[in-house]
Amino acid sequence: MNHLYLKIRNITKETAEAITVEFENPDNEPISYQAGQFLTLIVNIKGESVRRAYSLCTSPLIHQHPAVTIKRIKGGLVSNYLNDTLKVGDTVEVLPPMGVFTTEFSENNRRHLVLFGGGSGITPLMSLLLTTLQSEPKSMVSLIYANRDADSIIFKKKIEDLQIQFKDRFNLVQIWEKTPLFWSKGHKGLLNTKMIRKILDSLPKSTAEATEYFMCGPNPMMEVIQKAFIELKLPLDKLRKESFGISPEEAATKKASILEESQKNNVPTEGYEVTVRYDGEEHKFMVPPDKSILQTALALDIDLPYSCQSGMCTACMGKCVAGKVKLDEEDALTPKELDQGYVLTCVGHPMSEGVVIVID
Ligand SMILES: Cc1cc2nc3c(=O)[nH]c(=O)nc-3n(C[C@H](O)[C@H](O)[C@H](O)COP(=O)(O)OP(=O)(O)OC[C@H]3O[C@@H](n4cnc5c(N)ncnc54)[C@H](O)[C@@H]3O)c2cc1C
Ligand code: FES
Repeated sequence: MNHLYLKIRNITKETAEAITVEFENPDNEPISYQAGQFLTLIVNIKGESVRRAYSLCTSPLIHQHPAVTIKRIKGGLVSNYLNDTLKVGDTVEVLPPMGVFTTEFSENNRRHLVLFGGGSGITPLMSLLLTTLQSEPKSMVSLIYANRDADSIIFKKKIEDLQIQFKDRFNLVQIWEKTPLFWSKGHKGLLNTKMIRKILDSLPKSTAEATEYFMCGPNPMMEVIQKAFIELKLPLDKLRKESFGISPEEAATKKASILEESQKNNVPTEGYEVTVRYDGEEHKFMVPPDKSILQTALALDIDLPYSCQSGMCTACMGKCVAGKVKLDEEDALTPKELDQGYVLTCVGHPMSEGVVIVID
């Protein structure tokens, strides 16, 4: 995969915890991407090369220069490093834009996009929102945006400006955990089924031929939305999800369950040999039960594609053409991809002998 070396053109402080970093290609080649995709930033911290995914918050149809917004995570290695050290003029190594949290845009579309965003989850939604308003004159967008309080809202002013510019086609519903006294701009507290029902009922009735839902935010918020969709009998297949990561507790639960699964499948302590075909080469290596296929490959200096390393982004996707692989996170793949045998090497564990994975 060709790595890009992009120059930082501008940095904007969005909130006390988040910056937006705008890039340009020093070669003057345009950086082509689709709304909703992400960049993988590769940085060297204390001699170690680390990668993290950051969604593009810009629209390819509007902005000449792509940008990502990076919010600090408490104790987080890369988000804090980037917030603390990036400067205009720096060059950053990135992987080309990737991701499937996007949609086909057409000026003939007549649809209602309902976007559920929480905190920094607004970034890919902002890209989808801007692109829809710009390119689909007959479509409408509703943004249901949950934040801790007024000061933590990323893109507050930009969103307020869009409300004025597109008042007939853009509708904002705010949810704040902490509100000032006599606040009447939206809903107070955390999103729950009752609130979701109320919000969806209150959205302007559109003449849309179809309603499509996108969500990106903290995992507990997205679980509430998914459950509400089931309870309210809303079409789950129309609800698209982008997850940014998992908490240490969720990671520990997943690890425990994969070890249990390995025991159930009588996986030997030394694990199974896996064959990975990628970039014209074939690699064979043993994967022990407590390591993923990607983790093992990287430890052996085998160059495989990846970004998030937590089953969220699909950068490491390959097709399992023989043997059995268990994923400890499969949300990023569609049911069709799972049926076709696609796996994510970063969260994939061999459960049988003879596993062969082909990565395009
Ligand atoms: C497709 C994709 C797009 C993303 N887009 C953005 C974006 O636009 N803006 C942005 O700020 N971030 C985004 N992220 C998250 C980002 O890639 C990093 O995971 C995040 O910045 C934390 O990295 P870190 O090195 O600071 O934390 P780490 O050092 O990796 O983690 C520190 C601790 O925080 C926990 N943790 C990490 N991420 C989360 C999380 N999301 N929720 C709860 N706990 C967590 C970890 O389990 C760990 O214990 C995206 C992730 C993916 C997969
Ligand atoms: S590297 Fe992101 S899903 Fe595997």
